[in-house]
Amino acid sequence: MSVAKNFQIDNSFVIQVILILMKTSLQTAQIQVHPGFIDLGIGDPQLSLLPTELIRQSAEACFAQNDPTFLQYGAEQGNGYFRLALAKFLSRGYGFPVEPESLFVSSGASGGLDLICTLFTQPGDTIFVEEPTYFLALRIFADHGLRLVPIPTDEDGLVVDALEAKLAEIRPKFLYIVPTFQNPSGQTLSQERRERLVPLCQEHDFLVVADEVYHFLSYGLQPPETFAAHTSVRNVISLGSFSKILAPGLRLGWVQAEASRIRQLVKCGLLDSGGGMNPFTSAVVRGILENGGLEKHILGLRATYHARLAAMDAALRRYLPGARYTIPQGGYFFWVRLPEEADAEELLTKAKEFKVGFRPGIRFSSQGRMRQYIRLGFSFYESEEIEEGVRRLGQAFC
Ligand SMILES: Cc1ncc(COP(=O)(O)O)c(C=O)c1O
Repeated sequence: MSVAKNFQIDNSFVIQVILILMKTSLQTAQIQVHPGFIDLGIGDPQLSLLPTELIRQSAEACFAQNDPTFLQYGAEQGNGYFRLALAKFLSRGYGFPVEPESLFVSSGASGGLDLICTLFTQPGDTIFVEEPTYFLALRIFADHGLRLVPIPTDEDGLVVDALEAKLAEIRPKFLYIVPTFQNPSGQTLSQERRERLVPLCQEHDFLVVADEVYHFLSYGLQPPETFAAHTSVRNVISLGSFSKILAPGLRLGWVQAEASRIRQLVKCGLLDSGGGMNPFTSAVVRGILENGGLEKHILGLRATYHARLAAMDAALRRYLPGARYTIPQGGYFFWVRLPEEADAEELLTKAKEFKVGFRPGIRFSSQGRMRQYIRLGFSFYESEEIEEGVRRLGQAFC
């Protein structure tokens, strides 16, 4: 009998362990934050900013149409009507005509970037990246076995003189840049440097892959002209995404490039087998593009993020007066330079004791540098939480 009782106790213990394990493995979002913790390292939109109603109404309209084609394998380049609606949206936003033929529908900017690596590089090839750069692009490049050469940046973005000097030594397969409201630095490549870059990539025959996911999130002056304006040049590719202007869970983005480049993407094996990327979400987003819902939503996001940016700036001045940074004019991030002797990774351990987090600069360096920088995001929290988070940082750093 005592054996049976013991068995019962063991059994319930095992069930509890299984439940705990299930809870941890049944995660629903990429990032989970513990209650009470303020993670200013997060670069996601706040859940309350995801436009569920807009998306629900458009999805309902799709199902009401009595045409289930959007649930079929999709056209390789992406649904033509969706590309037409996207081209019209981009033409209005960029201020010059965008043709649907120049657009390829991707699984977010990440999916576009990964496909470009698959089709245009071999393991061991060299590519150039900004220093600092978007840290998760570094993960994609690692998957493809690419060799990374860093090009420095300053307050006007990529230092094109340094790029020219490197080009004298080596020709990369491509240069990856986030030219507008960069992640992590918030900096924007100046118009003058953009104009120098385009002839350079033709002269030295390398691709410019411009990741422009923050282009529409400007809070002050309009940013300089997008690289999409130069995609009649075969070596220029522009990546866009709905992740920052609608919802990342849609996994929807686009590649804009010259027609023969688009044909190279369309012909790949992945699409031959699986069809075009995300036909279902494309159909839903098409409705939101056509009824003007996206433009309205972006206006709301700009107002919200602008206020949060101001809150973060004010809190930094108040609680971290020794920090150095340039106020970003768009995007999601502040890139903060701590005093020279600071090591952000060590400070993160201390910050966590105060229930606050950030992304240490080293993660954005392909060379293990940028130790005294931290990236702070203002997209995930309300202004009051941002202020409280920065106040905690001030306590942790003193
Ligand atoms: C510069 C940059 N590129 C790409 C992405 C990811 O985009 P997507 O969700 O469209 O794959 C992000 C997201 O943080 C980003 O900051």
